[in-house]
Formats: sequence, structure tokens, C-alpha cells
Amino acid sequence: MSTGIIGLGRALPEKILTNFDLEKMVDTNDEWIRTRTGIEERRIADDNTNTSDIAYEAAKKAIENANISPEDIDLILVATVTPDQPFPTVACMLQERLGCVKAAAMDLSAACAGFMYGMVTAKQFIDNGAYKYALVIGVEKLSKITNWEDRNTAVLFGDGGGAVVLGQVSEGRGILSFELGADGSGGKHLFQDEEDFIQMNGREVFKFAVRQMGESSENVLVKAGLSKEDVDFLIPHQANIRIMEASRQRLNLPEEKMSKTVHKYGNTSAASIPISLVEEYEAGKIKDDDVIVLVGFGGGLTWGAIALRW
Ligand code: ACO
Repeated sequence: MSTGIIGLGRALPEKILTNFDLEKMVDTNDEWIRTRTGIEERRIADDNTNTSDIAYEAAKKAIENANISPEDIDLILVATVTPDQPFPTVACMLQERLGCVKAAAMDLSAACAGFMYGMVTAKQFIDNGAYKYALVIGVEKLSKITNWEDRNTAVLFGDGGGAVVLGQVSEGRGILSFELGADGSGGKHLFQDEEDFIQMNGREVFKFAVRQMGESSENVLVKAGLSKEDVDFLIPHQANIRIMEASRQRLNLPEEKMSKTVHKYGNTSAASIPISLVEEYEAGKIKDDDVIVLVGFGGGLTWGAIALRW
């Protein structure tokens, strides 16, 4: 047996903030944002909706989709850099709200690579037989740590969440290989400042992302004994279309084999990969037996990639 995704769900706030709306808030314009990032609009949660509310909606759908009951969940991992508060964690809030009475629960923080870290962590518990079902969620309310007066960052981020249930699947399916990594020396390029706002050296992060996304995608294929030709779908972290395009080209994939949701949701950090995964799955683009590469990078600096067979 191996560990794979047996249920999935996502949640996105209804309110849409377009590039044209941003033109009225900071010195920017739709053309600059679209050509430099690929983003056209993003979702923003209202004041009464916190990270745990978004996570709850996504998680509830994932458990229903897995066709199990909340009491079956053994472990809840929530990847987020925008928890409601440091403690109790979003994971513990969900444990109660969902009724996952027997689940252990914790948040984990690896910025935009957080969902990759969460998936790989949960996989260990299922592989070794300690747990049967794990709920892994990537969720952010980045709007609460965005400086809406800073055009360098305000145009990039959005709110949302995606969740998966991991469980046992037959040998040869599910997670085939993974790579996680970190380089703390790059922490200065992307961090939360003393005012709690996101600060970023865009060019440095860009260079790192292009290099790391490509390398990690290739590494997980080698580890799984697969070649680039075997890949049916690439789901990269949705930070910037130019970074995503570089990853796609590194794997020699045609456009239709890469998930693209950045134009609609912006960069939702830990949530971007699971949101995209659910979107492609619901659109019927992910089919039985498909080989999928998930790859992300983020503040820390951190990175992670997974090769899986659906
Ligand atoms: N509107 C208009 N002009 C702008 C804006 C804006 N919103 N933002 C910056 N500019 C200006 C700059 O001031 C600069 O002007 P100057 O040449 O007069 O100094 C000019 O546009 C070019 O700026 P660059 O930084 O060179 O633009 P670049 O092409 O590098 O694009 C971007 C900037 C989009 C931020 C890019 O560097 C990028 O995407 N980097 C990676 C960001 C990323 O992926 N972050 C991930 C965060 S993940 C996490 O963990 C939260």
C-alpha cells in the first residue's frame, strides 16, 4: 500500500478585487500587473471571515468527498502563515468544529511551500501505519498581512483554502516521491516585518523560484523512476505566471498540461497548490492513473515537490 489523496475540497471568498480596483488604491495599472504577474483578480475575505472559516469550508468538502466521517480523521495539519492567532491553532479550531474527535492537530508554517510540507509529513504517519486518515489543509487570509499602500506586494496576494484527505491507496499510486528543502540564508528576501506586513525582494525571489521549481520538479521525477514524458499534469505554486511558465518549459510540457489559476486568485501562498488541484480535478482534467507533479516555493526560503499517480 502507499499514501494518496482520497478526498479534496476548496473554499474561496466571494469578494473579487480586480486590478482595476487596485488602480484606485495604489500607483499601479492593470497592464503592469497582468504582464508582470499574470494576475487579473484575487479573492478577499471580509472582516468577519478568518482563516479558520475558510479552512473549515474546504476541509468539510474534502471529508465529504472522501466519503468518510469526521471521527475517522487521525491527524489534522494546517499549513498557513496567517492563522487566526498563534494558539489555539487553526488545526485545533477545526478539530472541534468538524467533530474530528480523535484527531491530533497542529499548524505548520513553511510559507508558500507549506502544503507540500504538510502532505509529506502526513504521508509518513500513514506509510508507517500509525494513522489511517490525515486531513491536510493549505489556507491563507493574506489580505490581513498585506500592506494595501505598498504597490510592490499589494497586487500579488489573495485569500483562499484547499484541503485533501490522505489515506491508503494501492501500491504504485498516490505519492510516488517527494523533495523538501530550505535555505535560511534567503530569509531576508521574503519576510513579515514588525508591522506584520509582507516584505519582499521580488527579483531575488523570482530568480530563486525559477531555479528551484525546475530543479525540484526534475528531482522528484528521477526519484520516482519517471521521465518528463510521463508527466500528465504540472501544478506549480501560483505566484507569478512567468515563474510557472519557466517550470512548465523545464519539463517540456504543453500549455494545457499546466494548471493556471493565478489570473483568478493571485498568490494564495500555502493554499495555491491545493486550490489548483481541486479546480483541475473538478474540471475533469485529472484522470485515473495520471502522473502529476506538484511543486512550490516560499518564504524561509522553503521549497517542496511531490510526484504522484492519481
Ligand atoms: N505597479 C506598477 N509598477 C510597479 C509595481 C506595481 N504594482 N510594482 C513595482 N513596480 C515598478 C517598480 O517600482 C520598478 O520601477 P523602477 O524600474 O522605476 O524601479 C518596476 O516596476 C520594475 O520592478 P521589478 O521589481 O523589476 O519588476 P519585476 O519584473 O521583477 O516584477 C514581481 C516584480 C512581479 C514582484 C516579480 O519580481 C515577482 O513575481 N517576483 C517573485 C514574487 C513571488 O513569487 N513572491 C512569492 C511570495 S511567496 C510567499 O511565501 C508569500
